[in-house]
Amino acid sequence: MVVKICKDYDEMSRAAANIFAAQIITKPDSVLGFATGSTPEGTYKELVKMYKEGLISFKDITSFNLDEYVGITRENDQSYYYFMHHHLFDHVDINESNVNIPNTGGNLQDECMDYEHRIKAAGGVDLQIVGIGNNGHIGFNEPCDNFVENTNVVELQQRTIEANARFFDSADDVPTRAVTMGIGTIMRARKVVLVASGEGKADIIRDIVKGKITPMAPASVLRFHNDVTVIVDKAAASLL
Ligand code: GLP
Repeated sequence: MVVKICKDYDEMSRAAANIFAAQIITKPDSVLGFATGSTPEGTYKELVKMYKEGLISFKDITSFNLDEYVGITRENDQSYYYFMHHHLFDHVDINESNVNIPNTGGNLQDECMDYEHRIKAAGGVDLQIVGIGNNGHIGFNEPCDNFVENTNVVELQQRTIEANARFFDSADDVPTRAVTMGIGTIMRARKVVLVASGEGKADIIRDIVKGKITPMAPASVLRFHNDVTVIVDKAAASLL
């Protein structure tokens, strides 16, 4: 695990975007794994800028998102489908038929199995970006007794619901379930970038970089991966 400490959020965003740009330039038909949450927004802004400057193209890219809420439609402005289109896909030349975000509108178990098949059929994820929840979750893999391997349906923990309530009118409006890539799905990506910013993430960044590798801090498993870059700003790195 390589830890890169940046001076602020903007530098963190540029560093993560540069890794994506390098991936896209060296392999224009890459399979990219995207994440939601406020942290990667700056990375997507940088990628849109690079696209508009003619430096990168998404025309042959295939994408897979980490997760999606259950119980809200894709049109809802809090869905991760909406988020990805709003922050990235609507502004670049990605082919919509190559965009994959868990479809939570039908049978969830079928979708979990199908999502794994689609990732495999695409050749696996070349580069995956993840944020981190303040309880250590990646995707929506919440702290629990074991690492869950494949795409699965999760019940969100109260701490996650409270953390995500800022995007909704109230905590009662936050969906309580989601479909998420499993820990194994994320670990099978050939390269992983984790971004974190702000002092609210300092405790968990310390735990996953220096603490025990445990499913109680799901992101700690990334220390077993052979190509992970953790990109943090100074505030998130303050307890390292
Ligand atoms: C959600 C997402 C995660 C994300 C987390 C942190 O729970 N499912 O993928 O990492 O939020 O979000 P933020 O970056 O806003 O702190």
